[in-house]
Amino acid sequence: MRENEFDKNSEIENEIPMDEVNAPLTVEAVEAGIGEDVLLEVRNLKKHFVVGKSFFGKPIKWLKAVDNVSFSLKKGKTLGIVGESGCGKTTMGRTILRLYDVTGGEVWFKGQEVSQVSNKEFDKLRPNMQMIFQDPYASLSPRLTVGEIIGEAALQHKIVDKKNYKEYVLSVMKMCGLQPHYFERYPHEFSGGQRQRICIARALALKPELVICDEPVSALDVSIQAQIINMLKELQAELGLTYVFISHDLSVVKHISDEVGVMYLGSMVEFGTKDKIFNNTLHPYTKALFSAVPVPNPHVKMNRVILKGDIPSPVNPPKGCKFHTRCDKCMEICKTVPPKYKQVEEGHFCACHLYDTEEDIAEYETAAAIDVEAQD
Ligand SMILES: Nc1ncnc2c1ncn2[C@@H]1O[C@H](COP(=O)(O)OP(=O)(O)O)[C@@H](O)[C@H]1O
Ligand code: SF4
Ligand SMILES: [Mg+2]
Repeated sequence: MRENEFDKNSEIENEIPMDEVNAPLTVEAVEAGIGEDVLLEVRNLKKHFVVGKSFFGKPIKWLKAVDNVSFSLKKGKTLGIVGESGCGKTTMGRTILRLYDVTGGEVWFKGQEVSQVSNKEFDKLRPNMQMIFQDPYASLSPRLTVGEIIGEAALQHKIVDKKNYKEYVLSVMKMCGLQPHYFERYPHEFSGGQRQRICIARALALKPELVICDEPVSALDVSIQAQIINMLKELQAELGLTYVFISHDLSVVKHISDEVGVMYLGSMVEFGTKDKIFNNTLHPYTKALFSAVPVPNPHVKMNRVILKGDIPSPVNPPKGCKFHTRCDKCMEICKTVPPKYKQVEEGHFCACHLYDTEEDIAEYETAAAIDVEAQD
């Protein structure tokens, strides 16, 4: 996988030896049930921000931006993450990459649990897990040339040595559709699309295996969006990259993803292969999201499900199913009992009482009885 185009173009001294990169799973990973072809596995991930403190500085109020999210992602695949603004997509991406401290849960990367390793140890993995941000204007230093922006971290992480530096950066620029003479130029001289290419080149210069793309085309003109998406797809095929692709644009997610996760108020409410999510949509929230997308065929009748009201505050989310205040299928149980996130059909997960089995209901009843006993 790491024998990629960059290697062909220049002699690269890679800090991470090949045998280490392709190392077998750790005993710990095998015990935890992580598969050989799984690159990233997230288990019950939580990121809670403190938003209120007592007079003495003790945290008393939390915003649960990511609340118990689990999924796994195979090497070379793309997971699309969708959901309305504020549902925790960016926070999840940043927490996986340890740009935020993890509040709880586990993040397994290449068979290693990385959420609790020391910063020093995580720094070794950092080049391998990169993020591309939404705003290509804010994420580029105006004082550095394009060449410096792309090459600096690669040099620092010893992905390339000084002797081969320029040749290497030019090879990465070529892959990302950037002209060689841009090397000496500054970011302000470029359009949004070209700036995003620079950001992508900067991430790929570190030879990552996992790239978290956070709304990478949302700030760009529609015509440019397609070029960037297609380039990301081509780079994935060429380099064997694995993407977590965050977007609120369902057509983009449909185009690029192998699997799709739908988030609502910090929780994953539905997850599955693209085919299952789009052709056998289970969760009422996903149905509402999909029905809001216009169909470009006048003969297709739109059965719109209108999402009622605003998203509730994540500081004080509704009890039971967090979506119950806006759901057109809401039942009594939904108002008090949070639905289990479970596999409804092979490879298709959902958290909704509409899919409760008799065993699930028995489980909820037992939990409620224990609660009552504890209160007495
Ligand atoms: N640093 C922070 N401190 C407190 N709250 C935050 C912080 N970052 C994000 N949030 C809150 O977390 C929630 C999720 O935000 P975010 O991950 O940016 O959502 P999305 O990317 O889906 O739009 C929002 O309610 C947001 O206001
Ligand atoms: S659990 Fe109930 S309220 Fe929540 S999505 Fe399902 S039907 Fe709607
Ligand atoms: Mg975001």
